[in-house]
Amino acid sequence: MGEDRGIRALLDWYARAGVDQAIDHAPRDRYGEAEAAVAVAREPAPAQAAAQAAASREPAPTEPAPDAPPAPLLPPGDATWSAHEIAAACTSLDQLVAAVGAFDGCALKRTATSTVIGDGNPQAALMIVGEAPGAEEDRQGLPFVGPAGRLLDRMLAAIGLDRSAVYITNMLPWRPPGNRSPTAEELAICQPFLERQIELIAPRILVLVGGIAAKALLGRREGITRLRGQWFPFSTPRMEGSIQATATFHPAYLLRSPQAKREVWRDLLAIEEVMKNGDAER
Ligand code: URA
Repeated sequence: MGEDRGIRALLDWYARAGVDQAIDHAPRDRYGEAEAAVAVAREPAPAQAAAQAAASREPAPTEPAPDAPPAPLLPPGDATWSAHEIAAACTSLDQLVAAVGAFDGCALKRTATSTVIGDGNPQAALMIVGEAPGAEEDRQGLPFVGPAGRLLDRMLAAIGLDRSAVYITNMLPWRPPGNRSPTAEELAICQPFLERQIELIAPRILVLVGGIAAKALLGRREGITRLRGQWFPFSTPRMEGSIQATATFHPAYLLRSPQAKREVWRDLLAIEEVMKNGDAER
């Protein structure tokens, strides 16, 4: 009886801390997985690898021993720097997906079930960036597949688009426990991966949904109410030229505040216009 109460109190405590899902039956060595994926991201193309191996007669890189001791989490500055380096080494979306899946510098990965990268068409002219996976996205491993995602699909359909015509991703590839807001540290650690993803997809138009994505990618302090409906040039130091970026309300906000759909409709019409006719009026 007393033991039951203790277990109940412990479960309550976990639930309040945002732990609301069982993750795995057995412990996983995510550090080992991380190192292996970084090696994958840095691995040369097969022909180059074969030539190098033949030249040096060295064995191909091996996975770390399964009983290798877990490395401690990197300090945030180092994690951001290492994300930067790893992302910059990726020359294809596949490499980036492998590298993010293996990266262990962000503690969110330890509580998430899936690494959620992108969905849709990597050749699309329009790329949408949200905040972070929710519970359904974490379960399915795809962005925007829960209630907010269904509304996003309807918003896209309103201007004649669907997931085959856009590429969808998030600021963070891992669900924050209990859907809490991402911290500045988590955003800074994951942003190099997102920026590399934008460089590799190279869309013509970037749509940032919600204040978190808008502020982080536009480097602005204003909230979404001020930022939405405007167009900004977005670029990274590695890009030649810039991408036209705009922001609008997050569909999760629209589910709570349907009166904001009027503004979003205007934003969608402006996006449709730029899709069809090119430059936005700045
Ligand atoms: N909200 C987001 O910002 N992204 C998702 O993938 C789902 C909900």
